Amino acid sequence: MKRRNFIKLSAMGTAAVAVSACENSLIGQKQSTILNFPISSPKIISTWNHGLAANNKAWEVLNKNGSALDAVEQGVRTTESDESNRSVGLGGLPDATGKVTLDACIMDHKFNCGSVSFLQNIENPISVARKIMEETPHVMLSGKGAYNFAIEKGFKHKELLIPETKLAWEKLMSSNSQKKPQINSENHDTIGLLAIDNKGNISGACTTSGWAYKLHGRVGDSPIIGAGLYVDNEIGGACATGLGEAVIKICGSHTVVELMRQGHSPNNACKLAVERIIKSNENLEGLQVGFIALNKKGEYGAYSVYSGFNYALKDESSNKMIDAAYEMEW
Ligand code: GLY
Repeated sequence: MKRRNFIKLSAMGTAAVAVSACENSLIGQKQSTILNFPISSPKIISTWNHGLAANNKAWEVLNKNGSALDAVEQGVRTTESDESNRSVGLGGLPDATGKVTLDACIMDHKFNCGSVSFLQNIENPISVARKIMEETPHVMLSGKGAYNFAIEKGFKHKELLIPETKLAWEKLMSSNSQKKPQINSENHDTIGLLAIDNKGNISGACTTSGWAYKLHGRVGDSPIIGAGLYVDNEIGGACATGLGEAVIKICGSHTVVELMRQGHSPNNACKLAVERIIKSNENLEGLQVGFIALNKKGEYGAYSVYSGFNYALKDESSNKMIDAAYEMEW
């Protein structure tokens, strides 16, 4: 069968594959017809406008026939290494003690996943997450253990607090004020990126420096498989951005993927997950959360609690920003 025609089916045939997919379904719902349609040509979707550069890098990989896994890793590394970005990797805003602590995770088309949380002094946590996935029996390493593992694997120690962010932190500390995260298009948080390669396989990556000036030791949704990111290659993938505490409470990205499994479009699945965020939080003031989703057919969508969330979409013809639909005006 040709690549763009139908998903490769095992020798057991379509029916057997559909039955086994149904049995594997975590929610026990009847499998939708989602297994039986033309698969997508390569496509990339990522959160916020830093996604444009990440998409371009990821596309270079896909264009050379690379895997979605390589594409998502290379894509978000661009954001992690971008010193001008205040919410991811190098140049990210520190915690309340002035330390930049990073969270990241990666997931491929076979449910393999790797994750780092509370990692310091390593510029590209996403690549450490991938090494954990590929070279250890674990999914997640945290803190000093994750750092030691990274150094052992050849990653370099790096000071991630740059002069501008050090100054901003010192100013805030001297003002003695509490800082609530302001998460929107001018002050975004987290890059989540999903890609489909030319075999139709989906992978995802998610990386952040988290809530600016958070308590030392705080970990958000971004390194938690099922919260910040989830991929089921039969269905699609989803990523979250925004207030991690709210995303963790509803296992956000996994929820979006399961809603797509039930037959919802990516857009509607993101909307339903946002509605669940709204239902599960009494105080919604400033509580911005956004989801992006991409299904096996290449359909994509996004939805956020408040206006102001946007995402970058790359395909053969363009790399462009799209404003997400939302529930309330910011
Ligand atoms: N969404 C990123 C965080 O809350 O840390």
